[in-house]
Amino acid sequence: MHWQDYVGEIMLSPDTLQERIAALGKQISTDYAGQELLLVCVLKGGVMFLTDLMRQITIPHSIDFMAISSYGVGVRESSGIVRILMDLGTNIKDRNVLIVEDIIDTGHTLQYILRLLQARSPTSLRVCCLLDKPSRRKVPIEVDYVGFSIPDKYVFGYGLDLDELYRELPLVATLKPELYSQFTDQGEE
Ligand code: PRP
Repeated sequence: MHWQDYVGEIMLSPDTLQERIAALGKQISTDYAGQELLLVCVLKGGVMFLTDLMRQITIPHSIDFMAISSYGVGVRESSGIVRILMDLGTNIKDRNVLIVEDIIDTGHTLQYILRLLQARSPTSLRVCCLLDKPSRRKVPIEVDYVGFSIPDKYVFGYGLDLDELYRELPLVATLKPELYSQFTDQGEE
């Protein structure tokens, strides 16, 4: 099947995404003016967003990456169990850290990352997330920068995968509802 065969609708076009990301980059550059910033990307979904966002940030900044285990979403959702697969290579003590995520769903992943990084005494620790599904939240998370607040639909593209494919798409699409049962990553308990 071609990726178009999975699409219910195009939720966010390339232009819509890039326009919002430019605004986020501008806002972040203003908020951290005169300071340095470390962008922490959570693999793998955050990669597309990170690379576009950093091109819109005009203050000096560096990047680093973390990888977190999924375990199967059912397990993670019910228990909140998250495990670190790859840690940062950077010491974040006394740094301004901005976590860059593609999507917040239950909030378990971010809650885990925030606690882990907060314990390392950064100067500041904030979150920039492209997509937020507030109706799915199971733990309270304060998100400082949100690209788009979206309804509880299965979405893919622009970093988000369908069984590891289609992360490269420059847009965010919804999955056809009749195909939900084939993919259990989002919206399944
Ligand atoms: C996604 C996303 C977040 C997490 C959000 O990652 O990138 O890290 O799920 O879900 P939560 O709020 O319910 O914790 P995923 O595990 O799908 O890995 P991937 O980014 O490598 O696709």
